[in-house]
Amino acid sequence: MKDCNYSERVAGVNYVEFLRVLHGRLKPATYFEIGVQFGDTLKLANCATICVDPRFQCEINVLCGKPVCHCYQMTSDEFFGANNPTAIFGRPIDFAFLDGMHWFEFLLRDFINTEKHCASRSTIVMHDCLPPGFYMTTRDNDAVNHPESDFKGWWAGDVWKIVPTLIKYRPDLSISITDCAPTGLVIVTNLNPDDTILTTNYNQILTEFKEMDREEFEHYWKNVFIDHAA
Ligand SMILES: C[S@@+](CC[C@H](N)C(=O)[O-])C[C@H]1O[C@@H](n2cnc3c(N)ncnc32)[C@H](O)[C@@H]1O
Repeated sequence: MKDCNYSERVAGVNYVEFLRVLHGRLKPATYFEIGVQFGDTLKLANCATICVDPRFQCEINVLCGKPVCHCYQMTSDEFFGANNPTAIFGRPIDFAFLDGMHWFEFLLRDFINTEKHCASRSTIVMHDCLPPGFYMTTRDNDAVNHPESDFKGWWAGDVWKIVPTLIKYRPDLSISITDCAPTGLVIVTNLNPDDTILTTNYNQILTEFKEMDREEFEHYWKNVFIDHAA
């Protein structure tokens, strides 16, 4: 079956450039990143930083203007199981970028665990939630080179399901969808570190959203750019 192709809906400024501008505007005192890889987004921060990745591959200078940078080479679940970012920083996370494992339930946990260490005025940004093609959203990587894929070799996984999840379960959040190339950025504010709705409904959410199919993916794309700000 032919791929769907929404690439003109994510043809805006590249996500790294957008994040660079966001750092300049927000001027966070603390930055938290899950999923570092080569360090292209980590290097943008010039404040106290915590970053987590089971396999760092940085060969560039990622310290830049950071007064301190705590690097945890482990999964985000392992990190949150043994560490407290608020205690490490001595204050809440101001700005977080979530770009780790690209399975829905992983990003859901990363969001839940990160929000607990934010203040209401903090910002959480999530990557890859607007994948322009369907075959790049596979959970098993098999379809990445599907003969009908318009984006061969791309993999965004199924993290896009976090957006309908938050819209349904957390109407109190302000959610902004951007058209950043190549797979969008989702910006979440008006956070509540004491909220327990996502944790309480975790299993129900997985049952409800994890098996979403192509029809639901296309429905998502038809509706995702309507305004969800609280
Ligand atoms: C797409 S890359 C991050 C790219 C980087 N943020 C950037 O934009 O340049 C995803 C990273 O997530 C890491 N990762 C995979 N599973 C993870 C997990 N369970 N917890 C944290 N990071 C994970 C991978 O090792 C990989 O380096």
